[in-house]
Amino acid sequence: MSTADIYSGTGGLDASIQYELNSGENAGPGLRTTLEFMAPFINKRTSLSDLIALGVYTSVRSCGGPAVAIRAGRRNAKGDGNKGVPQPENSVSDFEQKFDRMGFTHEEAIQAVACGHTLGGVHSAQFADIVPPGSATNGVASLDYSMSVFDNKVVTEYLSGSTKNPLVVGHSVTISKHSDFKLFNSDGNNTMERMADNNRFPEICRTVLQKMIDVVPSGIELTRAIGPFMVKPVNLQLTLENGGSTLLFTGFIRVKTSGTPGGSITSITITYKNREGGSSCGPGTCSITATAQGQGQGFDDTFAFFPIEANIPVSSGIYSFVVTVNYANGGRTRSPKVVFRDPTALTLVAAVRNDRISQGALATISYKVPQSNSPVPALKTATIKLKKGNCIGEYTFFTIDHEIEGGLADESHIDLSNGDISDSFKSVNDIQGSCRPFSNPSSCNDVRGGLPRRQP
Ligand code: HEM
Repeated sequence: MSTADIYSGTGGLDASIQYELNSGENAGPGLRTTLEFMAPFINKRTSLSDLIALGVYTSVRSCGGPAVAIRAGRRNAKGDGNKGVPQPENSVSDFEQKFDRMGFTHEEAIQAVACGHTLGGVHSAQFADIVPPGSATNGVASLDYSMSVFDNKVVTEYLSGSTKNPLVVGHSVTISKHSDFKLFNSDGNNTMERMADNNRFPEICRTVLQKMIDVVPSGIELTRAIGPFMVKPVNLQLTLENGGSTLLFTGFIRVKTSGTPGGSITSITITYKNREGGSSCGPGTCSITATAQGQGQGFDDTFAFFPIEANIPVSSGIYSFVVTVNYANGGRTRSPKVVFRDPTALTLVAAVRNDRISQGALATISYKVPQSNSPVPALKTATIKLKKGNCIGEYTFFTIDHEIEGGLADESHIDLSNGDISDSFKSVNDIQGSCRPFSNPSSCNDVRGGLPRRQP
């Protein structure tokens, strides 16, 4: 985000770093390896700049630091940004000017550097004048004693004079590249002394790191802080089965178990509405019960997973559902309504209900192509029309064979649409495998003379 100029509203955390790795201002292996690590996770809903912000939460939290709130909505720059990343050889007034351009006070600049430099080290390969070859284990000189723990040792070691931080002591001093010393000392150590309080350090860092990642070009509105949903449906899928008479409803519901009002969870109930929004669901009732099969844990929350596997008659279908979480103490919580759009198939085969075939089927594929000037691929979109095929029961299959260019097909997402209805953001990786043959197809019962008849 050091490209930021808050006075002109340009730069900030916009992932321009992907085009700046050879600018001479961003030495060190960590930047490229981080971008390469993140590359598979970018998609049309998650920008590289949001992932970089999320990386701050993940790295800090996984090293024992505070939870930095993550807001989304950043957009990526199309090319490199302005120069001006602070360098070890800069003077205190250079630092002051550069951080002011980014919207940081002098105190915040010191805080940001101290919070950043509690992790990691200086690499001899890129900074041989600061860390001479052979002088540090594995070629990396740690910025504080506990290299991968988010603690305030970078501060206390500096204040006590025991520090081995290569940007404070050692070779950097003789060539005036001891940037941490220059900054830390620039206000008479006042800021560092406040950060020496172990209780205040995490909160100071949480605030300044959030400020850092929320510096974005003007015109970008970030969302509210992101937190886990209480109830989150995952990988929901409706698959046409039994010759076209049943919809197999699969997936699972993830329920947050930490911070829940009612103690342990006994089961969940999915109560659904039929295709018309009504409450009659063929021979059975409009409800599915599931019990927990597995638990998961994030940094700050725990979760239970409830698998769904239910048969839904095609004649009534499913339009929407709510999830009721049943607690051991008798309490209940209901999720917001989840709306299903009409069933479509898994891959580039869409089962379109016969009363809607006149609207055809369209696939919009969001896919990745490698870029020669960045370790991160670019996102592209292709829209293709599916061709009408066989009619089975109350559905007609639309299919297309399409080759996704770029060599990263498994990181693509597909929206299948039929008129105003779409089944969106299907991960190709989740779909996997090849199409199964359709067993015992029932005869086409809703098309006369090739023309669709409206369903009752
Ligand atoms: C005056 C401003 C700053 C200067 C001059 C500076 C300089 C440096 C240098 C020379 C390195 C060694 C890079 C390498 O060898 O890979 C480094 C590492 C690092 N810096 Fe800074 N830095 C500054 C501010 C910041 C800020 C604000 C943060 C984050 C909040 C930060 C986080 C880090 C981290 C995490 C590393 C370790 C990288 C690794 O281990 O691969 N720095 N810094």
